[in-house]
Amino acid sequence: MCGIVGYTGYREAYPILIKGLHRLEYRGYDSAGVALLDESDNSLSIYKAKGKVSGLESIADSRPHSGCIGIAHTRWATHGLPTENNAHPHQSENGRLTIVHNGIIENYAVLREQLKSKGYHFRSETDTEVLVQLIQYTVDTTGEDVATSVRLALGKVIGAYAIVVIDRDNPDTIIAARKSSPMVIGIGEGNCEFFIASDASPIAEYTTKMVYLSDGQIALCRRGEELQVLTLDNDLVKVKVRNVKLDLNMLDKGGYPHFMLKEIHEQPSCLRDCMRGRIVEDGKRVVLSAITEHREELLNARRIVVVSCGTSWHAGLIGKQLIEQYCRIPVEVAYASEFRYSDPVIDDKDIVVAISQSGETADTLAAIQLASERGALVYGVVNAVGSSIARNSDTGTYIHVGPEIGVASTKAFTGQVTVLAMMALAIGREKGTIGDEEYENLIAELLSIPEKMEKVLSQDGRIRQIAEKFRDKHNALYLGRGINYPVALEGALKLKEISYLHAEGYPAAEMKHGPIALVDEEMPVVFLATHYGLYEKVISNMQEVIARKGRILAIVTEGDETVRNMVEDVIEVPQVHSSLAPLLTVLPLQMLAYHVAVSKGLDVDQPRNLAKSVTVE
Ligand code: AGP
Ligand code: GLU
Repeated sequence: MCGIVGYTGYREAYPILIKGLHRLEYRGYDSAGVALLDESDNSLSIYKAKGKVSGLESIADSRPHSGCIGIAHTRWATHGLPTENNAHPHQSENGRLTIVHNGIIENYAVLREQLKSKGYHFRSETDTEVLVQLIQYTVDTTGEDVATSVRLALGKVIGAYAIVVIDRDNPDTIIAARKSSPMVIGIGEGNCEFFIASDASPIAEYTTKMVYLSDGQIALCRRGEELQVLTLDNDLVKVKVRNVKLDLNMLDKGGYPHFMLKEIHEQPSCLRDCMRGRIVEDGKRVVLSAITEHREELLNARRIVVVSCGTSWHAGLIGKQLIEQYCRIPVEVAYASEFRYSDPVIDDKDIVVAISQSGETADTLAAIQLASERGALVYGVVNAVGSSIARNSDTGTYIHVGPEIGVASTKAFTGQVTVLAMMALAIGREKGTIGDEEYENLIAELLSIPEKMEKVLSQDGRIRQIAEKFRDKHNALYLGRGINYPVALEGALKLKEISYLHAEGYPAAEMKHGPIALVDEEMPVVFLATHYGLYEKVISNMQEVIARKGRILAIVTEGDETVRNMVEDVIEVPQVHSSLAPLLTVLPLQMLAYHVAVSKGLDVDQPRNLAKSVTVE
């Protein structure tokens, strides 16, 4: 959600900033802007555009855009409409300070009134403009320098922020600060230039030396000098430089028309990466270092509480079934947004597992901070290396599926389920709650998943044809039972997110307690009907839909003639251990949502109103 890029150094800032904004587009935004400071004449060029970064480029390309220091932003509006006027950067009234901001200033209304009463005027509806005016007011009234004034002003602010500020009177310095919103600083050539961004992707091609700011820290990035980091209380912080390498090819579309399609098709290789080094001894053992290190806490855990949102929450529901079955530890799965405000009964006998692709989801981060305060061990299942949730967890297992750019999560989901399955196996083995044969069999089955996924993905053309039938519908129902129930929820979420069709996921047997009233010849019903425990019961649920003229697409196990003879469309997935079925059954649902969205001409990778990284609560 929202992206920040900043640069100060010896190169022209504009191309770095624009390229960086493109790299951050996946996070979701509604407008964009850039500010450049040209020290030759201290002139400032500011350009803003509603809509895409390409629109901003077409304005700025033909106007003056030189300068070796600049800041840029993609906004996801929280305060004020997504208009050009509300787009960042914002300036203090006298034009000296320029800011971009990610997050929300909760007490902005009070501060705005106070500043108005002191004669300050406002040009936008944003909370951000209040912040830059507050900093200017602090400069004006205390006579302190800008860095000190930023620090003092932030002390008066309630809310979440990542900010970068430039000062027309000091055209070599960027001041950056954060609280509850991500911010990373790349140290460039000769330690003399700085790249600032919301995540490492805009920085990775220039340097691997990165400093992740922590909450309540403020950084002074002055060209040609060492990076200086202070706390809001003015204590000097020892800077910890990490070596972060990103595969730049993974940040491009690699020949696919959309990131989402690329990421769907990447899943077999991603899962191989995810299991590499963790399934060892020729496929005989699962070793997760976090579990080895925290063996005692995990074996003695009273219960596990999973906290997450959206797709990651669905992965948590699958994890619950796996951990309860193989480890006999009770598992609760909470929406992070509810958990954090629920005064949860939690203590040091509990393990909290935080699942997050981005590692920056504000609610999940707040949930683990609360869990830590109450003594629970926090175990992160995260994709983005070095992200806030990863850094705020006591331990964890990265899913290692590479950057996920498409807003609709696909490969992160299967990576999360794979890590949760490995966790269930490793803990179950230590506890002795899983038999040898089952353990070895499940490992072999896990290792077979990537190849089986390839078979499912090869049916892309067929799924595209089926998608045509969904195109003009308004609603769809997704039904599954047991381990396939969370897959029904995930399939429905995918369709909603990118195809803008209303879809509901339900446990198949619940259908007759309400949703069946919706079924008629206009209602597509997607059944997850693979060949496991409750198969016969799912068939009965299908009959109930057929009796009401519902149109069924069924996801079945290879060779299932019974269902093929009953329903309009089937997609087959290879036979696999029932516990791992979601890793295959979710693929046709991801592809279906993708093709429906494409056939409707929608923006697949950046669907309306959605953000990839939800850094506000
Ligand atoms: C998934 O398709 C969604 N865009 C969304 O529900 C996402 O899963 C959720 O916001 C959680 O994000 P996280 O995994 O990065 O924490
Ligand atoms: N609250 C600010 C605004 O509405 C920043 C939003 C963002 O994070 O993009 O302008």
